[in-house]
Amino acid sequence: MKVAMVTGANKGLGFGIVRGLCKRFDGDVILTARDESRGRATVASLEREGLRPKFHQLDITDHASVVRLKDFLQATFGGLDVLVNNAAIAYQFNDAPAPSYPEEVRQLCHTNYFSTLDVCETLFPLLRPHARVCNVSSMNCHESFCACSPAMQERIKTSMHTIGDVNKLIDDFVKAAQDDRAVEMGFDRFPYGMSKIGVSLMSTIQQKQFDEEGADDIIVNSCDVGAGGWVATDMTNQYGVSVDQGMLQI
Ligand SMILES: NC(=O)c1ccc[n+]([C@@H]2O[C@H](COP(=O)([O-])OP(=O)(O)OC[C@H]3O[C@@H](n4cnc5c(N)ncnc54)[C@H](OP(=O)(O)O)[C@@H]3O)[C@@H](O)[C@H]2O)c1
Repeated sequence: MKVAMVTGANKGLGFGIVRGLCKRFDGDVILTARDESRGRATVASLEREGLRPKFHQLDITDHASVVRLKDFLQATFGGLDVLVNNAAIAYQFNDAPAPSYPEEVRQLCHTNYFSTLDVCETLFPLLRPHARVCNVSSMNCHESFCACSPAMQERIKTSMHTIGDVNKLIDDFVKAAQDDRAVEMGFDRFPYGMSKIGVSLMSTIQQKQFDEEGADDIIVNSCDVGAGGWVATDMTNQYGVSVDQGMLQI
């Protein structure tokens, strides 16, 4: 039996992706959420629609939680066929109180980039032939790229050969932001788009790695949702097209 797993799926796009997979995917679908009660309540709401997702707790910023999920997938399914890295945070598009700028940069890069990378590195050994990985990025990565200095754009375009290169880029951004020198160092000021630059670059390198290893038809994509517009979720203060429309415009 095939198995698909979605991160950050108790609401928003992750919830919509799980619902869509439950209707169309020929296999089990694992809805994960960092908060167990929110996750189980979402599973219950899908069960009322006649759908049957399974639940497992996952906080992508907690490595022990990622390892527990890996052990569960290994023991229960013996592998993984679809991985959707959807979980992310942002302060810039809603009314949620943001921390200080340096802390906001640290949190966004840690969650959206480094923790998504950790999920990948922990779960990739489980991927079976023909597996599909979708890392949810954003058009904001393009906007942030355009806002970088010409020298930084050149670095991003020509020097990102390994995951280590991307780690260094995002680390450099976090360090520059600690002294509010991100723009002076050539980065865009906004951490959401910079973190998604990391996700998009990471995805391209992961695909190259699978190809070099001779992996059997494993495909890694990064995607935007809502065709460069907004999808109405808590991240956007419910501004934008519906989740169902947004997913059609991937
Ligand atoms: N909405 C848009 O217009 C739009 C456009 C382009 C791309 N995206 C991307 O689409 C994805 C989903 O966003 P959304 O709009 O659906 O946002 P959302 O409604 O805020 O949902 C984000 C989800 O991620 C979860 N999450 C946050 N931190 C987590 C962590 N450490 N571990 C596990 N789960 C965590 C949240 O859980 P809690 O409920 O516990 O906070 C929530 O389930 C994100 O990658 C976002 O960047 C969104």
